[in-house]
Amino acid sequence: MKKIFLLFSLCLSLHGFGQQPVIQVIPEPAEIRTGEGFLVLNPSSSISVPDGNPALAKAVENFALQLSGATGFRIPVRSGGANTRNVGNINIELNKSADATLGNEGYKLSVTNAGVNITANKPAGAFYALQTILQLLPKEAVSKTQVKDIEWKIPVVEITDYPRFGWRGLMFDVSRHFFTKQEVKDFIDDMVRYKYNLLHWHLTDDEGWRIEIKSLPKLTEVGAWNVKRTGHFGNFVPPTDAEPRNYGGFYTQDDIKEVVQYAADRFVNILPEVDIPGHSLAAIASYPDLSCTPGADKYRVRSGEKIMDWHANGFTALIDNTLCPANEKVYVFLDKVFTEVAQIFPFEYIHMGGDECAKNFWEKSPQVKALMQKEKLKDMHEVQAYFVKRVSKIITSKGKKMIGWDEILEGGDLPKSATVMSWRGMKGGIEAAKMGHDVVMTPTTFVYLDYMQTDPAIEPPVYATLRLKTTYSFEPVPDGIDPKLIRGGQGNIWTEQIYNTRHLQYMVWPRAFAVAEVLWSPKSKRNFESFVPRVEAQFARYDLLNMKYSPALYDPLVKVKKGSNNEMLVDFDRELNNLDIYYSFDNSFPDKFYPKYDGTSIPVPVDASNLKLIAYRDGKPVGRLITLTSAEMRKRAGIK
Ligand code: ACM
Repeated sequence: MKKIFLLFSLCLSLHGFGQQPVIQVIPEPAEIRTGEGFLVLNPSSSISVPDGNPALAKAVENFALQLSGATGFRIPVRSGGANTRNVGNINIELNKSADATLGNEGYKLSVTNAGVNITANKPAGAFYALQTILQLLPKEAVSKTQVKDIEWKIPVVEITDYPRFGWRGLMFDVSRHFFTKQEVKDFIDDMVRYKYNLLHWHLTDDEGWRIEIKSLPKLTEVGAWNVKRTGHFGNFVPPTDAEPRNYGGFYTQDDIKEVVQYAADRFVNILPEVDIPGHSLAAIASYPDLSCTPGADKYRVRSGEKIMDWHANGFTALIDNTLCPANEKVYVFLDKVFTEVAQIFPFEYIHMGGDECAKNFWEKSPQVKALMQKEKLKDMHEVQAYFVKRVSKIITSKGKKMIGWDEILEGGDLPKSATVMSWRGMKGGIEAAKMGHDVVMTPTTFVYLDYMQTDPAIEPPVYATLRLKTTYSFEPVPDGIDPKLIRGGQGNIWTEQIYNTRHLQYMVWPRAFAVAEVLWSPKSKRNFESFVPRVEAQFARYDLLNMKYSPALYDPLVKVKKGSNNEMLVDFDRELNNLDIYYSFDNSFPDKFYPKYDGTSIPVPVDASNLKLIAYRDGKPVGRLITLTSAEMRKRAGIK
């Protein structure tokens, strides 16, 4: 047997001779030592898992099932230790005594010509090793249908890998637009390929209450439904009472339990968010007593019409979308909500929102004035802090820890046990960490995945832009802050302007590759130049999966300035150095035979009505056609 084995190995290594394996994994593993040659998975391969570990066995079965779609053969999973008889086996072992480097989620992966060995301290680590193997296999491994005439080669390699942060999340807003249970499961599948371990589920907001609360049935009978509108969300014509409120949806508690289990099977925790006291119009439309404002019984779940005025130094609510902090009924309501939330979500935290709570209706409320006198609260921030403290008591009484957006710091006196999610830049996180709170970093400046990805001339409009390279440069631990207090970070995907999963995918990927790498890989390994080809390797997989992604990294931002003679000058800001930009001012479509941008500012001809440009690489178009009108150029240059 041994001789046959040696012969087989020799054949395999000869077969692989001279082929330099390309290792392209996101997130970049902590340590990689490449070898020569390949191992080939084949119909007689098997995967062995240690006895007595149903969670691991299930995860491995899922992996084998997933792979069988592409390979056409189902690799059997066997319990009970190493099996080295066949070339092409994968052996998974859990360390008897923990390897401190690996922690709970790390792994060692050794691929030789003979087989694959995975060791980890915990099942999660082995699961992540399998995700790495999926990326080491040919891209066709992701196919859901059988791919013939291909060798399922895994390059010879030694990998030691473990995450930098324990909190590696994506926030998914299912309130602004509802996404089905299956769509949420698909989102989880997409996350785990890049070793995310936390789904922050934004379940309530002005536009929809998405979680069944059995003791408060109107929350989903009324609060889950609005009027379907399409276009640019935020300024829709206010709906009339005659229009049907049949757009939206919610998850039953059974649905949620199913998703929680689905996530747990993939080592993902789910953090539920109930966003209060602001962003609560769906709850108020269901139970108007929750408002301090007379006439709240006329309020309806928002359908994307304007309800807030945003100005340079803040915002004013046009209708009162806040829970009343001075009404004891509100706390009874919240006790019921959090009792049920705590029962269906096993994760240690509950998120209470706390962001963007307008105070202009509280300021007018006699009830709030009376509360301020009674509790000696000086201003509206202290009123909110009072509310947050009451909520913290409720959440703690359910055996959970409270986390909230960084506004929960306002008004002071935040309970020590609360964790702060820093979103208005890093400063809330810095302040919270200095006070000894745990922090999760989710700053708009780096990880708001709902923002545009390149020039507004070609992006679906959103009020801000965040490019891939900027996301990739995110550093969650600020200078001078104890890294132990920074639990990790997450990308946030708000869905005001996202109506379907195709656009969801476009907005999330590839920036969520960058967030995954920031949160998993050692800081010293981060390198945008090495990241880009790995992103493109994922694009090739997404093409096979029929998944959408944004190609915005190929599309420059157009900068326009005023020259000394009042003329306009344009420049193109590229994310990739190896792009050639061709342009025209004569309304025709530029290609590689047109003028090429050489890095010096281009004067705009006085009569030009449009600038058109497109990016090429290696003589092939890679970008999209971008058109800027002269009016837009004048606006950007600040010329009237
Ligand atoms: C937020 O983006 N309002 C947390």
